[in-house]
Amino acid sequence: MSVSGETRRLSVPQFMARKGGEPLVCLTAYTAPVARLLDPHVDMLLVGDSLGMVIYGYETTLPVTLAQMIAHGDAVVRHTRKALVVVDLPFGSYQASPSVAFEAASAVMAKTGCTAVKLEGGVEMAETVAFLSQRGIPVMGHVGLTPQAVNALGGYRSRGKDDAESAKIRMDTRAIVDAGAFAVVVEAVREPIARELTTETPVPIIGIGGSPACDGQILVTDDLLGLFGTFTPRFVKRYAELGESIGRAAAEYAADVRARRFPGPEHVFGTKAKRV
Ligand code: KIV
Repeated sequence: MSVSGETRRLSVPQFMARKGGEPLVCLTAYTAPVARLLDPHVDMLLVGDSLGMVIYGYETTLPVTLAQMIAHGDAVVRHTRKALVVVDLPFGSYQASPSVAFEAASAVMAKTGCTAVKLEGGVEMAETVAFLSQRGIPVMGHVGLTPQAVNALGGYRSRGKDDAESAKIRMDTRAIVDAGAFAVVVEAVREPIARELTTETPVPIIGIGGSPACDGQILVTDDLLGLFGTFTPRFVKRYAELGESIGRAAAEYAADVRARRFPGPEHVFGTKAKRV
């Protein structure tokens, strides 16, 4: 709590201090109402570029723009008080050079008020991670399955199937951590690799399709709520079936409207009926 009695947001040093301790609970959020609901329960909210697929219905995350990330980041930051908010840098906004990345990351931080940014990549992004970190921009890394590289990777299959892939994931993680990343998301990698990375790495490793041994876990909220698509990746546990609930509610509403059961007397003005 702060002097004014307001809840303080988890800071980057506090997040890092949880290495090897109580698991860090992380989820994605893209909108104000969902962010508000999740905030009391999580340590970190990621405004992920997965919003391109989840909210905008794109096939991949590649079309997502900086303007979209800023609009959603702003909504999430303004409607949360407790969670550390991290905003993804979208494809094309940071890969060209460290200074291009600085322009994008500083715009995201200044316009949303988020605490940190996340970017995908390993060895090839180390110089950029160092450039941003040394200039006051906390960077969360993302290795393993990196969805912005879906075309180069040839799909969304899990990573680390052979020695070469495992060695690459290790090298990538080491490179960005040495460059200053304060935490790393490790996505869809073989369990022993995620476990070993967690032991070997001095900063929190956040798994998504990683290992229960990771320092924290993240999922796409719409996946765990049963709101996104028909395919559920192996690493998702569904905690609710809101998609089915929404379908049922819409069908009931449609039936009521067609049968003139809605609106009832309690829903219209100038009648004596009370709302139930
Ligand atoms: O964009 C996103 O939601 C992510 C998570 C899957 C980690 O990067």
